[in-house]
Amino acid sequence: MRDLLPPAVAVAVAEPADWSGQLLAEEAACLGERAVASRRRDFTAGRVCARRAMAALGLPPVAVPAAADRSPVWPAGTVGTITHTRDYCAAAVAHRDELRSVGMDAEGHKELSAGVRRLICLPEEEAQCARLPPGIFWPTVIFSAKETVYKVWHPIVGSWLDFHDALVHLDPDAGTFTARIAPARIAAASDAHPPALVTGRFAVDADLVRTAATLAAR
Ligand SMILES: CC(C)(COP(=O)(O)OP(=O)(O)OC[C@H]1O[C@@H](n2cnc3c(N)ncnc32)[C@H](O)[C@@H]1OP(=O)(O)O)[C@@H](O)C(=O)NCCC(=O)NCCS
Repeated sequence: MRDLLPPAVAVAVAEPADWSGQLLAEEAACLGERAVASRRRDFTAGRVCARRAMAALGLPPVAVPAAADRSPVWPAGTVGTITHTRDYCAAAVAHRDELRSVGMDAEGHKELSAGVRRLICLPEEEAQCARLPPGIFWPTVIFSAKETVYKVWHPIVGSWLDFHDALVHLDPDAGTFTARIAPARIAAASDAHPPALVTGRFAVDADLVRTAATLAAR
């Protein structure tokens, strides 16, 4: 993810040992004793990466608990984001006075089923995917971009965004995307100064789709 985010963001990508690393007590309490092994593994890698990213920013290694809605609770004065898939996990943290929000997402580079695709992509996005070069599962890139947009949006606005509430445009040459948020969602959240447009970067390799975006400090 380092290549997709500006220098103000500290990024840590999980090493093999991180998946079985140590949680702090407050984090372990959020996870609960009955979490299945795969969930424990993902959650642990995310928290270990979060602390490594915080250390890179010169911050103490404090806990990153989970809110009731599962969003991570970053230390005061910071913004951050976590993603994990089967074999990949990363966390990113920045000072709030430098960035208003940060989000990132990683997905396996696989085809989406037709049913999932209908839930994720707007007709304009389907038409765009048909025009883009072959060899990449573009709807999966759009899916990942939308999850990144949600991770940027939710911590500052606090409200839900459906997958059809953002229209994503991909620029494959630049490796960038823009997401235009539905005006109704903007109007409904106007007190929170919601972003109408989120811009980010993406990268695709044989196994993995990665997307990331930031919002400048206001
Ligand atoms: C929250 C969500 C985006 C997570 O994405 P995912 O692909 O399932 O999983 P990832 O591994 O990439 O990310 C999981 C991490 O996201 C973070 N997260 C969870 N809820 C979050 C929220 N509301 N805001 C920001 N980050 C959140 C957590 O750190 C979580 O990891 P953890 O539980 O181990 O702490 C997804 O589950 C979801 O609810 N999507 C529906 C909303 C949406 O994406 N709308 C599209 C708008 S255009």
